[in-house]
Amino acid sequence: MAEVVWGLATSHVPSIGAAMDRGKTEDPNWKALFDGYAPARAWLAEHRPDVAVVVYNDHANGIDLDVVPTFAIGTAEHYPVADEGFGRRPVPDVVGDADLSLHLLESLVDEGFDLTVFQELDVDHGLTVPLSVWTPDPGEAWPCPVVPLLVNVIQYPQPTAARCYALGQALGRAIRSYPEDQKVALLGTGGMSHQLAGARAGFINPEFDAMWMEAIETDPARLAALSREELIRQAGSEGIELIMWLIMRGAMDERITKVHSSYFVPASNTAAGIALFDNRAPQPA
Ligand code: DHB
Ligand code: FE
Repeated sequence: MAEVVWGLATSHVPSIGAAMDRGKTEDPNWKALFDGYAPARAWLAEHRPDVAVVVYNDHANGIDLDVVPTFAIGTAEHYPVADEGFGRRPVPDVVGDADLSLHLLESLVDEGFDLTVFQELDVDHGLTVPLSVWTPDPGEAWPCPVVPLLVNVIQYPQPTAARCYALGQALGRAIRSYPEDQKVALLGTGGMSHQLAGARAGFINPEFDAMWMEAIETDPARLAALSREELIRQAGSEGIELIMWLIMRGAMDERITKVHSSYFVPASNTAAGIALFDNRAPQPA
């Protein structure tokens, strides 16, 4: 049977990918952020999964704003990297795992999560930047196939934190019921606090981010109890992307072990955080 082996939560700021693509990771403005990734990357290089489920949001690059599904899944064998207006990033296209996608789709629909299905999908920075945070030098291919799980965080009303946590729990059951012997990694992407437009553009809330970073490991139910409006108030209108970390967390065991976390302000307009958790911790009897 399949098992969840680790979870990586990470911001997906486009300029993190651009800094990597343009060889600027040693520049004074960027070095501290990338130094903060190093221990996680070293551990991840030793713990390669068979497949990864990446919980992410599209930013009107792969999906038209006319039709924004609340939750969706990709079922393709191949996901091209989106052109977000500056040409495609010089990173590999993403290989899918249609068999796992269809198993997750069926299990989640049976549990009452009526996912929209993308049989074709261009993936934007929401997915490719987290892959770069994980694997800075992918060469010809990312380390493993990917199943994209999409969440609407860009148009009101976004799903609640509670609903995301419940989806994560159902996702965990779905993965564990997959009959193939597969090591499955999870990525929860987006956040941390940021707001890109409006009167509070530039808003960052380090106290909230510190609370979130601690509670995502030890008390995710507390985070799941936050209302959409409270999340936007505390984390900013784009900081609500953090609900995607709760999907990752819900699919993991109650007790997990933190491998590494880091936090850097600002990456572009965003408080950039990563948190890496090992799911194979000893469980309470
Ligand atoms: C930025 C952050 C995001 O989450 C995003 O999707 C786009 C831009 C930023 O801080 O520039
Ligand atoms: Fe974003």
